[in-house]
Amino acid sequence: MEKHFAVIGNPIAHSLSPAMHRGGYQAFGIEADYLRLKVEPNDLLQAIQGLKALGFSGWNVTIPYKEQIIPFLDELTPEALEAGAVNTVKVEAGRLIGHNTDGNGFVRSLQEISTLEKGMQVVILGAGGAAKGIAMALIPYNVKIVILNRTNERAKRLADWVNQHDGEAATAPWEAGNWLNSADVVIQTTSVGLKQEQYPFSLKGISTQAVVIDIIFNPWETPFLREARELGCRTLNGAGMLLYQGALAWEFWLGGQAPIEAMKKGLLEAIG
Ligand code: ATR
Repeated sequence: MEKHFAVIGNPIAHSLSPAMHRGGYQAFGIEADYLRLKVEPNDLLQAIQGLKALGFSGWNVTIPYKEQIIPFLDELTPEALEAGAVNTVKVEAGRLIGHNTDGNGFVRSLQEISTLEKGMQVVILGAGGAAKGIAMALIPYNVKIVILNRTNERAKRLADWVNQHDGEAATAPWEAGNWLNSADVVIQTTSVGLKQEQYPFSLKGISTQAVVIDIIFNPWETPFLREARELGCRTLNGAGMLLYQGALAWEFWLGGQAPIEAMKKGLLEAIG
């Protein structure tokens, strides 16, 4: 029987998830489809009920519904509960289970180019939802997290949260650059690049051993990543995070190991 999956959000027209998942279905000969569905702000509950009534096996959730969807679900996995956000829903015996694969998807993507070792210094720029998911997923690796955010209060709140959850986090002033010398990994999570704004800091002084990541992949190379590359650092954009959050969602829905290479091929073809 054909299975149905989807991604819901608004706007949704540019979502690359259908191409990525369909690439995987093709490779494995799985009878399934994956739709891109735009949901209007007041229709979220009806949309979910509709998906359930139509026999969907699961769906991804993107902006702006990752938090709003929570009250409409029956159960949350620990990842979703801790993040306070859901990017993946599975329908199991008529129950809606909310999960979050963003943070672990990020870590898997990072592990493609770097190991994560105890004591490494990981600088996170930004303290919003994306930063929280990433910080949370880094806790088991015993790295030292430094959080910088335009609004320091929010950075402090996230650092406190990490420290209360067996992690190690501190904050640093947004403008100061001395965090750069000792950074092993720098992760840019703010929406500055998306909004095509100027980055309010420079990476000059960063170690060439550092790995620099921007969770955006459109543009493929943000000015932030370009600077990092020109300074000699290894860089990574957000396409890998998208790929691995999708692979983990696949595994949550279908079990087994996701066909990473086929999903990557689907994704890259859609990016063009
Ligand atoms: P997301 O879920 O994508 O992380 P968010 O929760 O709205 O989105 O968080 C956006 C992040 O980008 C925040 O860290 C925000 O900083 P503030 O907490 O100070 O608002 C950051 N951000 C957005 N625009 C920015 C700008 N022009 N300069 C610096 N930081 C910015």
